[in-house]
Amino acid sequence: MYGLQHKIVVITGAAKGIGLAATEAFAVEGAVVIVTDIDNDILEASLQPLLAKGLRIEAHQQDVVDELRWESLVEDVTARHGGIDILVNNAGIGILSNVETSTFEEWRRVMAVTLAAGVLSKIPMKRMAKPREIAPPMLFLASEDASYMTGSELIVDGGYLAA
Ligand SMILES: NC(=O)c1ccc[n+]([C@@H]2O[C@H](COP(=O)([O-])OP(=O)(O)OC[C@H]3O[C@@H](n4cnc5c(N)ncnc54)[C@H](O)[C@@H]3O)[C@@H](O)[C@H]2O)c1
Repeated sequence: MYGLQHKIVVITGAAKGIGLAATEAFAVEGAVVIVTDIDNDILEASLQPLLAKGLRIEAHQQDVVDELRWESLVEDVTARHGGIDILVNNAGIGILSNVETSTFEEWRRVMAVTLAAGVLSKIPMKRMAKPREIAPPMLFLASEDASYMTGSELIVDGGYLAA
């Protein structure tokens, strides 16, 4: 339905929550999903039911703030699959405490995971968009698949703003 057959997708923070749900969604669409998480034990346990369904999913342990681990992951996936088509930069941590009750170390870790992973995973395309690349995001925003999006901006710029 989304044209994801055989696409190579990397999803970070996939041991549970949104990352795990995204893993199943992409794999059901026919993608090869490379999943990573800092907690390898939970990741492997969570994947068992999906692997039992025959979905194409590969697990790697990764801390997204570790630059060298990004490099080795990209090298490994490129060597075995020819490259990465899609990155879902999902890994993150939230703390339920506020500025008065959280420690500086908690704040520092949240910022490191949230920001560093974004910086380390930028992939600018360095070209102008083709008109046919702009219409599908419009269809998506107008569709039932975007039913929980309201007033959001969807940036469709080939990575220009992030670079
Ligand atoms: N659930 C929400 O309502 C909500 C709201 C706002 C933002 N988010 C963001 O969406 C993302 C997913 O949220 P969720 O609710 O599924 O969270 P979650 O806590 O259920 O799952 C996050 C996953 O990321 C992994 N992770 C944490 N630090 C990591 C690191 N350094 N390297 C690799 N993996 C790491 C965890 O082990 C976990 O498996 C997070 O970035 C979160 O901040 C979620």
